[in-house]
Amino acid sequence: MSKKPLILGIESSCDETAASLITENEQGMPVVLSNIISSQVNVHKKFGGIVPELAARSHVEKIDWIVQKAIDESGREIEEIDAVASTAGPGLIVCLSVGLSFGKTFAFSLKKPFIAVNHLEGHALSPKLNSSLNYPYLLLLISGGHSQFLNVQGLGKYKRLGTTIDDALGEAFDKTAKLLGIEFPGGPQIEILAKKGDPNKYDLPKPIFNKGGCNLSFAGLKTSVLKITKEIKTDQEKFDLAASFQKTIEEILYKKTKIAFKEFEKQNRVKDKVFVVAGGVAANKKIRSMLKNLCIEENYQSIFPPIEFCGDNASMIAMVGLEKFKLKQFDSLDHPAKPRWPLDENAIFLKGAGVKLQ
Ligand code: KG4
Ligand code: ZN
Repeated sequence: MSKKPLILGIESSCDETAASLITENEQGMPVVLSNIISSQVNVHKKFGGIVPELAARSHVEKIDWIVQKAIDESGREIEEIDAVASTAGPGLIVCLSVGLSFGKTFAFSLKKPFIAVNHLEGHALSPKLNSSLNYPYLLLLISGGHSQFLNVQGLGKYKRLGTTIDDALGEAFDKTAKLLGIEFPGGPQIEILAKKGDPNKYDLPKPIFNKGGCNLSFAGLKTSVLKITKEIKTDQEKFDLAASFQKTIEEILYKKTKIAFKEFEKQNRVKDKVFVVAGGVAANKKIRSMLKNLCIEENYQSIFPPIEFCGDNASMIAMVGLEKFKLKQFDSLDHPAKPRWPLDENAIFLKGAGVKLQ
């Protein structure tokens, strides 16, 4: 029996301090030995959003015991670790620096290779933690900071098909929640409130619905929600607004995903078409079931990571580490933290005023 690689993953790009150990079984399938996540929700709640300095301080306070706990829970010894993979970007620089420096120091002291991981690639590969997944596949990445359709052609090979031109989807959920008086991060709460509401009560805008290919836009929704919240008085009206918001998102994603399918098919002549949905918002059950049904209609296989791997975690970082380890793609100990690090470096920047869409 050959020795399987044992990879330590570390994540600190935003408001989760996380560490994980993964390996492989004899069939070459990843095995998660530990997955420790410490969320900072309580640190940021009263500010209604993430305060970078507080987030960084909290990472510094917790990182060593989170890594220790990940090693203890894995049942393996520190000396058995074959490589250390840390998130190097994108994210808040003060936060990234904590996990990155820790990972580099750890790798150096163990005399083992260091691997710098793109956080978005972690989300992109997260379904590999529990399903066998071959390239190419179409990825919808919907998180608090990003909303993109990507043609995933291989490890490190991404072609962006569409992106948000303003807010990320998770951000739109969180901002709507805030307007409804729900504590940060409110995305998951919107899903709960929406269950009690009438999705057809409010007619909300669908920005760039009929143009811009599979690019997305959510900022106009927030303005409309703001106007309505000034008029609503009862809890039932709140539930109706949450339900109408979620229904609008479903309609936008349904239409834009259909367009992304066509774009993907133009770029790849594949018989087995696979659609992966990852990132924090992929935990939303209504969005999952709508996209699953769309895949049945359009003859795609749909793959979602398990809920615990949708939000930020270090197993997905270790997963990228494992793939890179097998290809001997190691990084030097002076690899910088990269606050902006797109998966498709050639894609044009599509944010802000002046963006022209057809
Ligand atoms: O991937 P993630 O944990 O962090 C980033 O990399 O951004 O995504 C966090 C985002 C937050 O905006 C959160 O409100 C949203 O995912 N989210 C949800 C749900 N669970 C998390 N949005 C809608 N419905 C959910 N169930
Ligand atoms: Zn993330």
